[in-house]
Parts: sequence; C-alpha cells; structure tokens
Amino acid sequence: MALSDFDLVLFGGSGDLAMRKLLPAMYARDVANDLPPTARIICVGRADASQEEFLQTVETTSKPLIKSPAVIPAAWERFTKRIVYVSLNATDAGSYQGLAEALRKEDAITKVYYLATPPAIFAKICENLKQNGLVTPNSRVVLEKPLGRDLASAKQINAEVGKVFEESQIYRIDHYLGKETVQNLLALRFGNILFEPLWRREWISDVQITIAEKLGVGNRLGYYDTSGALRDMLQNHLLQLLCIVAMEPPTSIAPDAVRDAKLQVLRSLKKFTPTTLAQNIVRGQYRAGHVDGKAVPSYRDEPDAPEHSRTETFVAMKAEIDTWRWAGVPFYLRTGKRMADGLAEIVVRFKQIPHSIFNQPTNSFQPNSLVIRLQPDEGLRMNLMAKTPGDGMRLKQAELELDFREQFKSPRMEAYERLLLDVLRGQLTLFMRGDELEAAWEWVEPILNSWESEDSYPLPYSSGTWGPAAASALIGRDGLQWREEVLPED
Ligand code: BG6
Repeated sequence: MALSDFDLVLFGGSGDLAMRKLLPAMYARDVANDLPPTARIICVGRADASQEEFLQTVETTSKPLIKSPAVIPAAWERFTKRIVYVSLNATDAGSYQGLAEALRKEDAITKVYYLATPPAIFAKICENLKQNGLVTPNSRVVLEKPLGRDLASAKQINAEVGKVFEESQIYRIDHYLGKETVQNLLALRFGNILFEPLWRREWISDVQITIAEKLGVGNRLGYYDTSGALRDMLQNHLLQLLCIVAMEPPTSIAPDAVRDAKLQVLRSLKKFTPTTLAQNIVRGQYRAGHVDGKAVPSYRDEPDAPEHSRTETFVAMKAEIDTWRWAGVPFYLRTGKRMADGLAEIVVRFKQIPHSIFNQPTNSFQPNSLVIRLQPDEGLRMNLMAKTPGDGMRLKQAELELDFREQFKSPRMEAYERLLLDVLRGQLTLFMRGDELEAAWEWVEPILNSWESEDSYPLPYSSGTWGPAAASALIGRDGLQWREEVLPED
C-alpha cells in the first residue's frame, strides 16, 4: 500500500535511537522508494543547532552506521533533503512556534509525533502539541520504551497521553514485534494446519523463550541501573513473544483481534506469591569474564556503576498460563547480558512418544521440538527422530531446517523499518494497546516489589556463560534442560 504524504516529527531527534535506528530505517525505506517524494522528517532537539550543523551530525553519527542497503551518494542526498531540524524545549509550550511553522498545514498530510524521549516528558509533550493546535484526527503519536517502570507509572502515561490522543492514534513500540520471525510465527501457527491441533497441553511439554546478548550494559548504565533485565527485556519483549506463542487464534489479523488475544494470555498468567516467586525466578548480575575470547569487566566495574548495585542483568523464570489450553505447561523465560552467545529463540518441545516399538528404550527418543530462531539467523528447525542409514533399525535425532534467508532471497527489513512503515500506514497490529501494557506491568509488579523489599542481591555469574547455575537448577527441577545444554554434537 503506497504511503500518503507525511511529516514525521522525531522528538529526541538528535538522540541515540534517532541516529542509530530511526534515520537509518527511514533511509532504507527511501532507497526502496516507499516514501512519497515530499515526505519529511522533522528532527526536534534541545540543542540550538543550525540546519547545517544538524545535518553534519547526521553525516558523522548516523550515516556510518548504515550498512544495508549501502549508502548511495545520490540517494543519501535525496534523503537528507527530507530532514528539517527544529530546536525546541519540549517541556515549554512557548517554544513550539518553530515546529508549528515547520509542519505543513494541509490536514491530508499525516503528522506523526515519535517520542524517543524519557517517558517522564511524554505527557508534557502531548499537552504542548495540543495547546499549540498541532493535534488533529489525522495525527499519530509513537511512544518508545520504557513505557513506565511499574503499573502506576504505565497507567499514568496511558491516562495522560490518552487526554490528547485517541487509543487508535497511539503506537506503543515493542521492536521485537517488528522482527521478521515474530510475524513468521503468526504465519506458522495460523497459515498451516499442521501445528495448531498439537499446540496445547496434551502434546506440548514445555516452551523456552530466550533472548541472550553478548553485549554488556554499554554506555546506557544511567538508564539500565534503574531498570534491570526484568523491566528492560522481560516485561515487554519476552512477554510479547510469549503472547504470540500462546494466544488463541485471533479471528483476523486486525489490530484489536490480535491484541484481544494477547491480552487474554497476559491476564491468564499465573500470579506469583512470595513463595512461588522465590522458587521460580532466578536473577543474576554479570561479573568479569570472557566473551568471544576477550576479557570483559564486571557489571559493577562498568563506568559509573554503583559499587554495590543490585540491578539484575539476567533473569530466568518459570511462568504458567492458567487456561484449558496451557494449564500445567511450563513456559521458561530467560534473558541476560554478557551471555555465552547472542541469540533470540523460542523452543517448543513436544511430549515423549508413549511407547517404543523398536529395540530402543522410549527414553532414548529425543522428544520432537520446534526451534523458532529470531536472531542471528532467522529460521525454523524441527527436530525429528529418523532412522540412521544402513542395516538394522537405529533411530537418531535429525533436523528439518527452514532458513529464511536461503528460502526467500528478497531483501530483509529491520524491525524499525517495518514498524515505522506501519505507523505511517496507520496499521496498529504490531503495537501494544494500553490495556496490554498495563496487564504486563500488573503481572511483573509483585516480582519488582519483592526484589525491592528484600535485602538480597542477584546471583553473580561470569561473563560469557549462560548465567547462574541456579538457572539450570530451575529447569532441572522439572527434569528438563535449557536447549544449549542438550544440543546434539555436530
Ligand atoms: C532493548 C533493550 O529494548 O532491546 C536493550 O533496552 C537490548 O537493553 C535490546 O540490548 C535488544 O534488542 P535486539 O533487537 O538487539 O535484540
């Protein structure tokens, strides 16, 4: 669907996200000829920079990060002509004059306000846009994470932004929903007849969802130390993945059909009590170690880290969903920084065969599993038992593999490219609704409260490992192992 003309306003326009992700994403869509010729990107920042100075910053900060599609000088020149820099103090209603002048007046031109700013000023920006007459029924607002730090702050953001924008104008970003494989998971579940009949407690033994990073906290310690892995990754990305795996078939791909189905999952998550919480959640913090053979420091030795920081950089948990479909099926969720490998994957493990007819004991059969790989190499892998060649009947685990890059040669799209296009098209399916956001916070809040009230510390783990040993014990208690612990030898 061709996009209609737009003015995309980036608050936080000179910030890290704009430079690293948003401008490169818009450049990629421009090269693909998706943007209307007169569409513009208005970058808003506090700095009193001139248009030339700002473009120079884009040139030195953003451009070198663009790898694919490569920068083509003529295309880059066309792209930078779309950029307009406006200096304003976002919290001061009196300073919006420049923005008002930069925006084109025609109502038919979609106005998108992308708030890549701290959430503390979301409400003020919305109010100021309204006061300055910049909000019309054809405007949209995009909210970047963190969308609050607990239930109360998330509710406050929803309420305050909701005073200015209708729910149908609000796009809450979770960039994991923009990843190719997440949408492929929808295709797998609802574009095939094979899996859905088996997609339930009768046939599935457990589900593992892992997002592991090799990177440490980098230069984001100021934010991260007040957040931690539970807020930064689990409350949003991991729970969204869990929703897509576990939701009932939506009636269509329409935004509210999908969001209703996800909300139902969030509301069916079994609540933790102080006892179940202590038994089912492990938190850790990285210490010095080696990642890819390179020595890396402990979290507490990262620049500006508090000496006794209690912030978790790793969390693993066993969650359960109290529905007819899922009762009793453990969902193991895990995320961490400075892990042994950088990957994001969902592993759906099926039950053991009931009886072996071969001269092999039943427990020598690896249960079937489906591995849905989000990154680094997008694909699906189905593990099956197959006969080994030659005389006799010996069965061994074999793999059916679908590598999306091999299969489909068409160019890839980064998550932000897809999500920005969807915002500009007015397509809300891949964005969280306000009630989903609140339901996710409501579920994680007892965990946060409990950690805050306790005098305990996250368990240490060496960088370059899979986290504290307690994470293996957590799943081991159920007679199971994390996938990397059972990977067949090549
Ligand atoms: C962000 C988190 O939302 O996701 C970061 O704030 C994390 O801490 C990042 O590194 C991971 O995203 P991706 O797409 O690189 O897996």
